[in-house]
Amino acid sequence: MTLKLAILISGRGSNMVALADYAAQEDVDCEIVAVIADKNAAGLAIAAEKGLSAYAVLRSDYTSKEAHEAAVIKAIDDAEADAVFLAGYMRLLSAHFCTHYQGRLFNIHPSLLPRHKGLDTHEKAIAAGDKTHGCSVHLVTEEMDDGLVLAQREVPVLDDDSPERLAARVLVEEHQLYPALLGALCSGLLTIEDGIPQMAIGTLPGTISGTVKEWPV
Ligand code: GRF
Repeated sequence: MTLKLAILISGRGSNMVALADYAAQEDVDCEIVAVIADKNAAGLAIAAEKGLSAYAVLRSDYTSKEAHEAAVIKAIDDAEADAVFLAGYMRLLSAHFCTHYQGRLFNIHPSLLPRHKGLDTHEKAIAAGDKTHGCSVHLVTEEMDDGLVLAQREVPVLDDDSPERLAARVLVEEHQLYPALLGALCSGLLTIEDGIPQMAIGTLPGTISGTVKEWPV
């Protein structure tokens, strides 16, 4: 059965593009049914160029966080999404939102969680003297960057690294890790029942950066 995916963004949308390009492959059984932003994000135009249904549910159009979230939930549910991927969506979600999509709501974060939650993760990794840094995909709870970690990719922190160079190398990994998670989900290699993930070993559908990948990554 085709997995219907909604992607939530707030910014440039490079992870959204990686997901969309992956999902567009013939043997990847996934349809992106909505790209939704909370502001006039640059990524919306890119999604629209790709022929995706892309629109903003502007936070500024609503008087409360609750009302805005309700509108986002309605947009996702009207699109009949099975799963929701946060891709640079810069809003903390309520317990109500997280419960509504329990086991179907994922986020990518640019650190090796539980290290370096929140913003400026690359600066934090360098300042902490970390030898490795990376990115994580996790289930979303109402606590920021909390929730069970499902997959991670590591990069070394170099002696003379700048936050910008480190961020760029982590982003390359993000663009592989998030599609891999999507592939595992839509092929059934990853299932989540009552918040508990089950992972089977196998070959992911399609290619990621032109390469066949095994799951778990
Ligand atoms: C990424 O680094 C992601 O891990 C974090 O926000 C950034 C979004 O970048 N949550 P983009 O909009 O996907 O390019």
